[in-house]
Amino acid sequence: KKKKRIPMNISLKGVPQLFMLCIAPLVRSVEETPEPIPTRVTGTIPAWIRGNLLRNGPGKFEFGGDHFNHWFDGMALMHQFKIEDGRVTYRSRFLRSDAYVKNSECNRIMVTEFGTLAMPDPCKNLFFRFLSRFEMIKPTDNASVNFVKYKGDYYVSTETNFMHKVDPESLESKEKVDWSKFIAVNGATAHPHYDPDGTAYNMGNSYGSKGALYNIIKVSPESDGDSLRGAEVLCSISPADKSRPSYYHSFGMSENYVVFIEQPVKLDLWKIVTCNIRRRSLSHGIYWDPKMETIFHLVHKQSGQVSSVKYHTKALSTFHQINAFEQDGFLVLDMCCSDDGQAINTYLIQNMRKAGEALDEMYNSIGRSYPRRFVLPLRVTKDTPTNQNLNTRPNSAATAIKIANDKVYCTHEDLHGDDLHEYGGFEFPHINYARYNARPYRFFYGCGFRHLVGDSLVKVDLEGKKLQVMSLLRMSAWAWNFFFLTGLALVCPDSTNTLTFVVLNVFFFFHVGQGHLSPGSGCQDL
Ligand SMILES: [Fe+2]
Repeated sequence: KKKKRIPMNISLKGVPQLFMLCIAPLVRSVEETPEPIPTRVTGTIPAWIRGNLLRNGPGKFEFGGDHFNHWFDGMALMHQFKIEDGRVTYRSRFLRSDAYVKNSECNRIMVTEFGTLAMPDPCKNLFFRFLSRFEMIKPTDNASVNFVKYKGDYYVSTETNFMHKVDPESLESKEKVDWSKFIAVNGATAHPHYDPDGTAYNMGNSYGSKGALYNIIKVSPESDGDSLRGAEVLCSISPADKSRPSYYHSFGMSENYVVFIEQPVKLDLWKIVTCNIRRRSLSHGIYWDPKMETIFHLVHKQSGQVSSVKYHTKALSTFHQINAFEQDGFLVLDMCCSDDGQAINTYLIQNMRKAGEALDEMYNSIGRSYPRRFVLPLRVTKDTPTNQNLNTRPNSAATAIKIANDKVYCTHEDLHGDDLHEYGGFEFPHINYARYNARPYRFFYGCGFRHLVGDSLVKVDLEGKKLQVMSLLRMSAWAWNFFFLTGLALVCPDSTNTLTFVVLNVFFFFHVGQGHLSPGSGCQDL
């Protein structure tokens, strides 16, 4: 009997070229699993690990004959891995957001998402359908980006003004919360930072009579009342161009400062306001302007004062910061950066459903992201000399040169060697947050990106910039693993001299040929 020929189409370095790469199952709608189901455990889970690993992301991409255009538009599906006594159960539940409920009831897309414009309601007559074109787009409450914590409560969040408070045990939504009811902001990022006492910091834009503003938000853990009562705007920063503020997905935080990175990924407010009348999605209002510089703004967390000194660097785009800390008069800021800011519009569902060479083409059209360090001198006065490198930290290749009384130009230091190129760069960074956030640290973790989605778990040791990589791809020629988000880092509460530390990560195991996709888990010494 003639043997079936295996297609060999993958052109990735270091990857067995055995099958045509396809990531389409990642953007396929799935059913929820609201009742816990047991899982098969390989190896031993330490008894001290107890609790819920919570994850959030898009899980439904169609309603009736309508389909979403962008990966970020899918309806929020919350996942829970409950770990107890060495056993793990899994459950998932769709967030009953207004968007989900309305879309489900009408069996069509009724609420505009980032890359998908809802069509006018067909139940309205022609005149009202025409008028609805002139209505402003209402922000979605499809909170599919992250789980966040405020005042001890769990919420799911996206980047609009809406979040949902959820029960971390049942995954049921308890309350829809609107930031703008508490403070004058039109949204907040899905990546707040936390002080050790539980104080949360976040950032959100506001659009008022004075134009757009970037706002630093503070939520103290002891503020009285439910949900976000007690939240305050610590300070506001004016964008360089008020009609074109920058998009930001997160920000940095050290012990005393919030660091806002004003990057040249811009929001064209006119295009966003008129997207309904022009019948174009919100995503068309985001653009990359590589001619602009990136500006770092420092805000003092206690006083709310914005530093008059601005730190500039070349155009870069960043989604996630790794860590920031102050040492010897410098603020060290580590983050994942790309020299290209167009990736956000690449993750269209139609692109992710391509396969083989067409998918490779998409991957090769976007810039890679790498971990970089900036060193910002904190004591810059009118007496500080110009035109000399102010970064005197030992063994640091980053530079910071004062070029005016209120302007320091910086260049970065790579936090990796050449070997990281083999893994396609680095994103979704995590650190041992409870122990090392805003402090000097040694290790960080994240995903390697040998394609449009992460396919390896990478640990970087800052001493020597050494890599350790976990990629199950090498274990099986018939499976492809997607590492999406590096999970929580846990430290054994009883550890004394020897630190016991684990990384929890969720990956997807795609069996080639069977079209089967299932969440899995892996264990390897890192
Ligand atoms: Fe994120």
